[in-house]
Parts: sequence; structure tokens; C-alpha cells
Amino acid sequence: MIKINQFCFCSISYVVHSCNLKYQNMKNTQNSLPPPSLPEQEGRVVQQSIDQWMSAEGPLLPILHHIQDHLGYIPPASIELIAHQLNLSRAEVHGVVTYYPHFRREKPALRQIVVCQAEACQARGARELTRTIESRTGCRLGQHSPDGQWCLESVYCLGLCASGPAVAINGCLHARVDHDRLNELLSPGDLA
Ligand code: FES
Repeated sequence: MIKINQFCFCSISYVVHSCNLKYQNMKNTQNSLPPPSLPEQEGRVVQQSIDQWMSAEGPLLPILHHIQDHLGYIPPASIELIAHQLNLSRAEVHGVVTYYPHFRREKPALRQIVVCQAEACQARGARELTRTIESRTGCRLGQHSPDGQWCLESVYCLGLCASGPAVAINGCLHARVDHDRLNELLSPGDLA
């Protein structure tokens, strides 16, 4: 009986060891592929981010934050470049990028509108306001407009709960946004 248990234990160890080797080989093979090319300016930012944080402890998140702060999103091609240089698998980097909603995977539109959909703002007309913005911009909630000019997103609290409905346009907060105020905010002069 003891012999059988020892045999089982050895077999399991062997299987685990083989899987680890296979996984390591897959990572090495993947990392030996040349990374994809990025547009010049994006590539420069990504490489600067990697160089700046590479030697930090747990460099992946600071690198991703740095890229997003400078480009507004994480270009898909940068995932392979980061994985290659940090000796991680693409799946590991991709997993972190997709886990945190903060990280964008699409180039941001020229004009980004965020509408608070939380309860206090809904009680003050956030839903109607959202429908109006959709018809004014041709952009559905959670999407980019077909011309790439707008993107409309929801958020659950902008910290202006007593002064809803609250909206952020290109990062600027606006409280008590009624239809007149919306017209002002969306006028070309205001957005230039
Ligand atoms: S609930 Fe809308 S800003 Fe807080």
C-alpha cells in the first residue's frame, strides 16, 4: 500500500513537473517572437514606460498606468511588447489589462462624455439626459460614435450627488446639467 502511494506521489510530481516545463517552454517560445510594431509615437511612449518602471517591484501596473496616462489607452500591440520585455506571457499582461475596467483598450474618442447613472442622479433625470446626449451625438451609451468623435460612458458617482445630474466631458465635471446646460456644453465653441 505504501509502495502504491509512493508511486502515485511520484507520478503526480512527474506530471506537475512536465506541465511546468511545457508552460515555461510556451512562454519562452512566445517571448522569443519579435514583438509587434507600434506606430512610432505610441511605441516611444510604451518603451519609455517600460524603461522607467522595469526595475520596480511589480512593474506591470505602473507601466500600464503610465501608458494610459500618456496615450489615453493601452494599445493592443503594446501587450506583446510589455510581455516580451517583462518575460511574462501575453495572457498574463492581457489578463491584467482586462481585469481592471480603468484600462481602456480602444483609442479614446476626441470628446468623451461620462454620465453618472447612480441613483441620486437618476432621480434628477440622468436617464433622460443620457437619451438626449445619445440623440445629439449619435453615440449610444457604452459606445463610440460612428465618426469616432464621441464616446459616451456611464459611471456610478462623480462625487456631485447633491447636484445631479452630473456629467464629465473630457474630464471636466459639470453639475445640474439640464437641457439648456447640455446645449451649451455640446456647442462647438465649448468643445474646441
Ligand atoms: S450619484 Fe451622481 S454624482 Fe453621485
